[in-house]
Amino acid sequence: SLMGKYSGMKQKERKLAEYFGVEKCIIVAGDSDDETKVLASFGQIISESLSTLLPDKENVIAVMGGTTMAAVAENMTMLDHNIRNNVFVPARGGIGETVDIQANSVSAMMASKTGGTSRPLYVPERVSHETYQSLLQEPFVQQVLGLIEESTCVIHSIGRALHMAARRGMSEQELVMLKNNGAVAESFGYFFDDDGKVVYKIPRIGLQLKDLEKVPYILAVAGGKSKAKAIHSYMKHAPQQTWLITDEGAANEMLKSI
Ligand code: F6P
Repeated sequence: SLMGKYSGMKQKERKLAEYFGVEKCIIVAGDSDDETKVLASFGQIISESLSTLLPDKENVIAVMGGTTMAAVAENMTMLDHNIRNNVFVPARGGIGETVDIQANSVSAMMASKTGGTSRPLYVPERVSHETYQSLLQEPFVQQVLGLIEESTCVIHSIGRALHMAARRGMSEQELVMLKNNGAVAESFGYFFDDDGKVVYKIPRIGLQLKDLEKVPYILAVAGGKSKAKAIHSYMKHAPQQTWLITDEGAANEMLKSI
């Protein structure tokens, strides 16, 4: 029955949230590995979650990039009038994604879809150490770093370690090192093993993993059966205030091993 199905889903959400020790888990029907409409529902749920969570003030929302985040951004909707004055910023500087899925693009899209504004962070991926250091001194960069520090909300995805390492153009040596260290998940440029322990970190400016602890609202959005292991790994040590937004594909796979 529909009622049985509904309560079954609620039960799975509670079970996952309890297991990971996080505030909330929301499971969308379907599997984003093979249905793009699931990604559209993620956008809707993120918009609703922001409406529920955000205090009525000018919030800074720090976002990551990736294909999930880009699809979420595309499908977000206008927020309530009293919580529209939000500033979207990329959470970390240049982490080598193509332009349409970069955090800069995601934050601009989210701002335009929800009625907020955005501020880009222009820090390229491959620059010399000196250029990098002088970019950091630029007032424009410093202002955005200041905003990131004040963020009330972070929205990010979770990826598979080796897939993300390859996509980010990491060297063969680094790939071997990640394999040897048992990396299975990646988020924020950090790599995690099966137990959710950090095994490698790409050094970048902006939000660091330890800064997440003091961010009041965190939305982690990732789905697809293929990502089940990665999500499981990252979520093991995710901050308690995290809301996990996922789909049945990933959830059912994770629940098999819980
Ligand atoms: O780099 C940003 C990020 O959101 C990571 O946190 C995550 O590993 C990755 O993107 C996921 O990418 P995709 O949504 O394309 O799988």
